[in-house]
Amino acid sequence: MPAVASRITAAMLLMLVVARWGVGDSSSSALEREVVVLGSDELVDGIPGDGVLTLAEIETWLSDRRNHVELDPRLPIGLAPGAVEIEGLRGNPLTRAKIELGRQLYFDSRLSRDHTVSCATCHNPNHGFADDSKVSLGVDNQAGGRNSPVAYNRIFSANQFWDGRAATLEEQALGPIANPVEMANTLQACVDQLATINGYHLQFERIFPDGLTIENVAKAIACFERSLVTETAPWDHYARLTSFKDAYADDLEYLDELKVDDPELFEEYQQLVAASETNPISDSAIRGSEVFFGKANCSVCHNGANFTDELYHNLGVGFDGDEPDWGRFELSEAEADRGAFKTPTLRNVEQTAPYMHDGSLATLAGVVDWYDEGGHHNEWLSEEIEPLELSDREKADLVEFIKALTGRLPNVERGRLPE
Ligand code: HEC
Ligand code: HEC
Repeated sequence: MPAVASRITAAMLLMLVVARWGVGDSSSSALEREVVVLGSDELVDGIPGDGVLTLAEIETWLSDRRNHVELDPRLPIGLAPGAVEIEGLRGNPLTRAKIELGRQLYFDSRLSRDHTVSCATCHNPNHGFADDSKVSLGVDNQAGGRNSPVAYNRIFSANQFWDGRAATLEEQALGPIANPVEMANTLQACVDQLATINGYHLQFERIFPDGLTIENVAKAIACFERSLVTETAPWDHYARLTSFKDAYADDLEYLDELKVDDPELFEEYQQLVAASETNPISDSAIRGSEVFFGKANCSVCHNGANFTDELYHNLGVGFDGDEPDWGRFELSEAEADRGAFKTPTLRNVEQTAPYMHDGSLATLAGVVDWYDEGGHHNEWLSEEIEPLELSDREKADLVEFIKALTGRLPNVERGRLPE
């Protein structure tokens, strides 16, 4: 039953994506737009200068027209096939000014009630934009019930949170500000606080027609998060080279001839080879990819450019305790959603231990063991989860494969906040 239900949902979602893509995005063609590649440092390295951000620096920044031009984002090579999955740009177009404002807000603990907790406290660039503890601590060291997910590659998801309860990244951003165990503020008090900071007041006035509102706080933060994407990983380089070799097997047989007959193709090949060599992948990781896409069935859920189907599944995590978290069921009240959580991305997860919605598994090897044993049995366990009987070598290879999905993250400026 559950598997059938999730397949129907998958098919319906696909139709939605196709329908939306079909509409196209030609509406804004009359406006000037600048093409940028997401994941580059220059979008997130702050307003030029050092130390506390001064009003004069903000003035100069805001008076540069370029910072208000709508950006037309492109993805790094590895994520490029995910372009069709990009969410949320139409209602909240990216601009450099919005991304930068969102960056400041993300690192600013003045959004919390007692000015001690920022988004970065729990989604910390030092810990792969997640947290290194089982559950994170908010204001007054209060602990929530779930593990902090990553704040990168969010551009690919509409629904946010482990249970998908926020329909957009904008809606999500307001959750933690008002959550009593996270930033423990009220949305009104947050806006009032920001209004006392001249540098923020000025930015909101000049960026948004309706100035400083909580909705615009959310929009700016969402723009910043959408600019955080993972760079091409060793696996991506390997996969590109492999599919190129498959596609041009005949031509590549006689390289000397190719060089003369089709110098462009030859050049492309040389570049792919060079990129693979500078971003090497181990033999173990290559074997691991075969396990991942084959015997271990991982790619049935961890698929697409961001290695997630964006759907909800019960793996039995937390079902060995007395009170399991019912996850998606709390929202949908569909029996099949009991204990089901959103499939997380596997990109860069090497950096974001511990794992699962409750942070119960400390290492990637522990996660692989969990799957090998078939999860934790319960009435609602996904039909895709069953004992795998992997050898020790296959398990180690799987871990190496996941590590080969790690790409560079942008080097984000963490200071440079207005006085
Ligand atoms: C005290 C820790 C804490 C703080 C502060 C915090 N978060 Fe979170 N964040 C979490 C936890 C825990 C979850 C998962 C909760 C859930 O799914 O029920 C989460 C979920 C998210 C998600 C969803 C990711 C996904 O894959 O669905 C995003 C995005 C996010 N937070 C961004 C932010 C932003 C932006 C801020 C600041 C406005 C913020 N967080 C502040 C702990 C925190
Ligand atoms: C039925 C769908 C499904 C299959 C099959 C599946 N996963 Fe997952 N994966 C999920 C879901 C859902 C979660 C989160 C579960 C939770 O927290 O309750 C998850 C979590 C993870 C995590 C933790 C990520 C994090 O940020 O906490 C890793 C690593 C992972 N899976 C790797 C794998 C590997 C390796 C395989 C194959 C052996 C696999 N998955 C098979 C759906 C699946």
